Amino acid sequence: MSSQQQQRQLHLGLFLFGTGYHPAGWRLPEGRTDGAYDPHFLKEIAQKLEQAKFDFFFLGDRLATSADMQYLFPSQMNRLEPFTLLSYLAAVTEKIGLIGTVNTTYAEPYNIARMTASLDHLSGGRASWNVVTGSDPRAAQNFSREKHWDNAKRYDYAEEFIEVISGLWDTWEDDALPRDKESGVFADGSKVHELNHSGEHFSVAGPLNVARPIQGQLPLITAGTSRRSQLLAAKYSDMVFTGTNDKEVAQAFYKEVKSKLREFGRTDSDLKVLPGLVPIVGRTDEEARAKYNELNSLVVTDYDLKPLSDKLGIDLTGIDLNAPLPDLSSSEAALHWAELARRANGREDITLRDLFYFFTVTVRGHLLVVGSAERIADLIEEWFVDEAADGFNVCPPYMPGGLDLFLELVVPELQRRGIFRTEYEGSTFRDHLGLGRPENRFELQLKG
Ligand SMILES: Cc1cc2nc3c(=O)[nH]c(=O)nc-3n(C[C@H](O)[C@H](O)[C@H](O)COP(=O)(O)O)c2cc1C
Repeated sequence: MSSQQQQRQLHLGLFLFGTGYHPAGWRLPEGRTDGAYDPHFLKEIAQKLEQAKFDFFFLGDRLATSADMQYLFPSQMNRLEPFTLLSYLAAVTEKIGLIGTVNTTYAEPYNIARMTASLDHLSGGRASWNVVTGSDPRAAQNFSREKHWDNAKRYDYAEEFIEVISGLWDTWEDDALPRDKESGVFADGSKVHELNHSGEHFSVAGPLNVARPIQGQLPLITAGTSRRSQLLAAKYSDMVFTGTNDKEVAQAFYKEVKSKLREFGRTDSDLKVLPGLVPIVGRTDEEARAKYNELNSLVVTDYDLKPLSDKLGIDLTGIDLNAPLPDLSSSEAALHWAELARRANGREDITLRDLFYFFTVTVRGHLLVVGSAERIADLIEEWFVDEAADGFNVCPPYMPGGLDLFLELVVPELQRRGIFRTEYEGSTFRDHLGLGRPENRFELQLKG
């Protein structure tokens, strides 16, 4: 490793799936089924992450649901509202970053500016927002809309939304509230600004009714892979969440999104790229593989091979699940997925059933790795050094055991290798990301 790479440090966060990322995580004898609703459990998780010096605790969100999501997405089917839960976690933690998802397509910027600034004050500067434009089109029917907007309109809206929020956070200068008993000046009106935003989608006067956030501007996260999503990341984000299990794809994304930063006057280190990682950890490779097989045996499924066939471009319907894999050489994708499934199972002679389970578990695209702490640390280090990732959004397969093993075994190994912090650099989330505190735009304007 070069000295520059030695200085670079991983960023690690928890992507919470209350019952685990694996669709059958909740069915393990030791798996929690109702963790996402239990404040004591959630508190314990957040505090453990903080002891391990994790960068953040992240909550995704969806604005629609149905009971049939239980087979693949039990954790996402119903859960607590992210900013309500994060406000509670703010009170029981001290250092860890708290990221909540905001779907801009169905929100008003003034409300979100207020909510996020409030969380930043309550947490002592640890709040952050993950901007999504909505992956579930059914949300439209819950928000009095006829249909979910197309990608272009959603991203146009999101971009203006971000501009408005960022402006509203600055409407109070840092010293706009002298609260001086002697003189009777509570607020200094010369340091309170109207935004007077008037754009295609929003007309917002301001000022915001919350003082400037402790971090000045909250770190902004985006998640997505479309061209518009990448542009949004390059222009505004401090961190981008992705999901791929292919290192070359991850490297290409990493390179492309970082190269776009320059178009916006930014540099490579301004944006961190974090793919999702699903670690199935064991004290040995055998133990981890046994857990992987146990989890798979608990999947509730009708073994519909159609989605897998569509993904691989080979018709697998009607083939005996217990038979060895058929000839897949006509599809590069199939060969790749079969290779990944072999690696997860730790053997060459996998069956169609093994491939089916691998697909079911990784359908959302995150990187699944099964093995000992050394094996998992090797993979993390490889992706980090080879610039496929600046860190990982860790999705434990079941809770809390899947997380505990990662924290007990993998984190110390990463620390031993000198690629993950043993102490927090500061107390705000911006500090963890190595970001300075931005100046207030209105003060800058006044300075000329
Ligand atoms: C790690 C990760 C987390 C995401 N979390 C959410 C989420 O919580 N809510 C949501 O609506 N979309 C979420 N998305 C989806 C994206 O925001 C985006 O809508 C999706 O990737 C497809 O959109 P695109 O057109 O931007 O690629 C997530 C994506 C990734 C990679």
